[in-house]
Amino acid sequence: MKFIGTTVAAIALTFSGFVFAESPAAGDVEKGKEIAAGICAGCHNADGNSAIPLYPILAGQYPGYIAKQLNDFKVVEGETVKRDNQIMAPMVATLSQDDIENLAAYYSQQKPQPGTASDASLVETGKKLYQGGNLENSIPACSSCHSPNGQGIPPHYPRIDGQHPAYTLSQLQAFRQGTRKNDTNNTMQTIVSRMSEQEMQAVSEYIATLR
Ligand code: HEC
Ligand code: HEC
Repeated sequence: MKFIGTTVAAIALTFSGFVFAESPAAGDVEKGKEIAAGICAGCHNADGNSAIPLYPILAGQYPGYIAKQLNDFKVVEGETVKRDNQIMAPMVATLSQDDIENLAAYYSQQKPQPGTASDASLVETGKKLYQGGNLENSIPACSSCHSPNGQGIPPHYPRIDGQHPAYTLSQLQAFRQGTRKNDTNNTMQTIVSRMSEQEMQAVSEYIATLR
């Protein structure tokens, strides 16, 4: 009993420490807004609701996830770039950790606009895969980590609901090609390696309709 008690306490401690370290609201929203207006708005829109299919909607995303992505885009000499992207790399090059926290705080507090599918005929197929996976090819249900309504589970599992289908598809392809390898346990890379192009397209269309 004593052993179990100690173990449980240790886990509880680790867990609360972890949650504390990741807790949001570390950034300054007003400062984030200023940088966003100066550098990012041209592509992601002033409030993070990008109108361009390949530029992701950032509004309402979890701050811990946004901050992680901004760091992952950074090109550090002698290290493999975790998320290799020629457009975002120069954007993050001069951002300090404070800037990153402030931007993450700002975008996380903006309200996302509802998304739409670009090919409604694929939505039903995408829904089946999202909710139930594909047992035959060992593809897990996306809902198990990104939640049934696409709201994710902070801080590690991002929101994906309402995202532009073209952007979502581009990320599934990037995970497959290995240009995006910033997933600690290779979760997404493993999943997409088992998906067909049609499955990736269909699930991206369904995700756009989630809210
Ligand atoms: C010239 C257009 C452009 C500008 C300016 C720009 N971005 Fe981006 N952003 C992109 C594109 C394109 C992607 C998708 C990259 C990819 O495919 O990995 C992206 C991706 C991101 C992501 C990842 C989102 C996710 O869901 O994983 C974040 C966060 C982000 N940008 C924040 C910013 C911030 C903050 C700024 C300003 C400092 C900025 N961007 C400026 C085009 C731009
Ligand atoms: C076991 C958990 C897990 C499952 C199941 C899962 N994901 Fe993910 N997904 C993640 C994690 C973790 C990340 C964030 C990786 C990172 O830190 O960049 C992610 C990121 C993503 C992103 C990038 C979001 C963005 O804003 O750039 C997309 C798109 C995505 N997942 C789609 C899917 C789809 C579609 C499925 C089902 C076929 C799925 N995921 C199943 C854990 C999961």
